[in-house]
Amino acid sequence: MILFQDVRKVYESSGEQVHALNGVDLHIKKGDIFGVIGFSGAGKSSLIRCVNLLERPTSGKVIVDGKDLLSLSTKQVREAKKDIGMIFQHFNLLNSKTVFDNVAIPLRLAKVSKQEITTRVMELLEFVGLNEKANNYPDQLSGGQKQRVGIARALATKPSILLCDEATSALDPQTTRAILQLLKKINEEYKITILIITHEMSVIREICNRVAVIEGGKIIEEGTVFQVFSSPKTETARSFVSSVMNDQLPEAVKRLVENVEGIQRVYRIHFVGESAGEPLFSKLAKKFDLHVNVLFGNITELQGIPYGNLIVEFQGEEKEINRALMYINQQEVLIKEVTTHAS
Ligand SMILES: Nc1ncnc2c1ncn2[C@@H]1O[C@H](COP(=O)(O)OP(=O)(O)O)[C@@H](O)[C@H]1O
Ligand SMILES: [Mg+2]
Repeated sequence: MILFQDVRKVYESSGEQVHALNGVDLHIKKGDIFGVIGFSGAGKSSLIRCVNLLERPTSGKVIVDGKDLLSLSTKQVREAKKDIGMIFQHFNLLNSKTVFDNVAIPLRLAKVSKQEITTRVMELLEFVGLNEKANNYPDQLSGGQKQRVGIARALATKPSILLCDEATSALDPQTTRAILQLLKKINEEYKITILIITHEMSVIREICNRVAVIEGGKIIEEGTVFQVFSSPKTETARSFVSSVMNDQLPEAVKRLVENVEGIQRVYRIHFVGESAGEPLFSKLAKKFDLHVNVLFGNITELQGIPYGNLIVEFQGEEKEINRALMYINQQEVLIKEVTTHAS
């Protein structure tokens, strides 16, 4: 469990103050894969680095597994940090050391016996799929392999929390997917809480269960991945969502809606879950005297739940269309009635 209470961070930089975090409140529950997304400079790294005190908050509280970090002694902080692993965008491996030795670093620091180190490191390398590479050097590895070493090293002291600062931002999409699947496996098999910060909404969609949007050092929106993706509340969240959801009207459809004589009542309709496949439109056509014309549609999956987005035109008498809209509004299938009126 990670709790942020009114956390502020001010940097002093050549005589100027930079307010990187401006009162962050956040609750990350045990077992979450929690994503924090924001543009560059929003305060993401500052936020995540406050969890293991790589940065000390200027004020506020950071409570990790019940312990108020800022009230601990140096020795207690060192102890608490063993419970928090971290991986980085550029892996932060030591190039002069082998893969084995890189993973062994935290164990040597913790004065674990030589024999135990060997067992543990080989176990970790096996888990991340790198047991063949124990004696290689980082320079001999691909980006994805380097991040696997970073992950093995972060897990060495059996932490209950894993922090990921843009951990896939230096990787190509296919490698990103493989690393994200590995993080998911870590969360499921080791019950490790994962905090991910990223500027890529696809990362959030792929593995997170909750997401917060950070802007100007403040959390401006938070919810389940499903909530934020299906009904983003802020402009920033909307732009992140539309970067991956492909829910923009194609130009051709837009032109059709705007210019073609006779096209009038156009709506955007969102479907959720089982209902995404339900034949709502054929029901409408049966129940009401109208014609439903689907102009555009796609169905994606969020957190394993089908999620559909359709642009439809209703043709018929005003009165019938209004009755049909009332009927649609009563269906749980629909989470948002929309707005795109052509006229
Ligand atoms: N060590 C530092 N000294 C001065 N300013 C910093 C320092 N680290 C970050 N900042 C500033 O704090 C703000 C937030 O930075 P950061 O937390 O790195 O954001 P993000 O990770 O979202 O890009 C930025 O304006 C950045 O320039
Ligand atoms: Mg950053």
